Amino acid sequence: MPGFELIGKEERDAVSEIFDRGGIMFRYGFDGPRQNIFKVTEFEAAFTKYLGCSHGHAVNTGTAAVRTALAALGVGPGDEVITQCFTFVATVEAIMEAGATPVLAEIDASLNMDPQDLEKLITPRTKAVIPVHMLGAAADMDRITQVAERHQIPVIEDSCQAPGTIYKGKKTGTIGKMGCFSFDFVKTMTCGEGGMVVTNDESLYRRAAEFADHGHVHDPKVPRGADPHLISGFNYRMTEIQAAVGLAQLAKLDGILTAQRRNKKDIVDGIKGLPDISFRALPDSAGDGGDTLVMTFPNKELAFKVGQSLIKDGVVTKILPDAMGWHFAGEWAHMLARTSSYAGRDLAACWPKSREILLSSVAVMIKIKMSDEDKAKIIAGIKKALS
Ligand SMILES: Cc1ncc(COP(=O)(O)O)c(C=O)c1O
Repeated sequence: MPGFELIGKEERDAVSEIFDRGGIMFRYGFDGPRQNIFKVTEFEAAFTKYLGCSHGHAVNTGTAAVRTALAALGVGPGDEVITQCFTFVATVEAIMEAGATPVLAEIDASLNMDPQDLEKLITPRTKAVIPVHMLGAAADMDRITQVAERHQIPVIEDSCQAPGTIYKGKKTGTIGKMGCFSFDFVKTMTCGEGGMVVTNDESLYRRAAEFADHGHVHDPKVPRGADPHLISGFNYRMTEIQAAVGLAQLAKLDGILTAQRRNKKDIVDGIKGLPDISFRALPDSAGDGGDTLVMTFPNKELAFKVGQSLIKDGVVTKILPDAMGWHFAGEWAHMLARTSSYAGRDLAACWPKSREILLSSVAVMIKIKMSDEDKAKIIAGIKKALS
């Protein structure tokens, strides 16, 4: 999974360049002393070119990217936003921070948003839909987009866990109206912390860039501070240092994805055909980012046994079943009690299908650097757990 496995000279050199040439860490202004170094702008251009979309605005976290996309689309109090019950808390935090009401769909065997449940949850108040490409794999964007278009609701893709993942020829994050990425320290590519919101719509891009910088309109004809403001915003700015690291990591992204896909395939080849294992249903398996192997078992008892056995053997499992607390809405009474959609409801009884799928699954982390011995150890561990 993590780009931090590859942090090295390239990242160090990119950061040093900033200090060797002016030391300006702020993305705007300081035109003289910065000696034409604009790392954040460069990172936005390089990342959007990589994705194949026209506009990107870098922010300081993936959470800020989702919040900024919601602001650009004008989502606020009184609106409902549908996302899925299996995601990182951040997606729902961003919706609540926007003052909107989160409505959470079940997942299906893809471990991403169930398009049928999405359709059932749409009301006249639904202002946006946020499918999340969990664990490196794309959601069923054809069916989700069809539902959203039928109801004329914009789609924001939360692609924080899936930079470079491909869905039917397109990079995730570029299929809906807006896409969000995270570059936090455990993501496929990292800036330490960081995020980006991308779109092909210039006016949404402008609104996002304004919102993430206190409402500044960034008019190049006037000095910063002399520009007018149209909307109120916040400070979600990315620093030059984050962007320098991001540029170095982006240059490694395709290599990261190739390694992950290869490592995952080697492990799958070693365990396929074993009784009782099935694999996550992927709408585009060739485009999967490959950072996680999800195995599904006939029941949660067996999944628990396999998970425990792997952990005991030192195999790193990821999110399932060990970190459901941060990734499954059934565990989020601390936040959802404040929403009009879930206050007073028994969360243990919400999303029964998703709970069953998640508890019956075990996710193994696929690293970039994995030796043949590492992979053999995982294969042996899975075989042993099932024996
Ligand atoms: C699906 C998803 N959305 C949003 C975020 C938030 O990203 P960040 O940690 O950069 O704020 C994360 C981070 O784990 C995530 O996994």
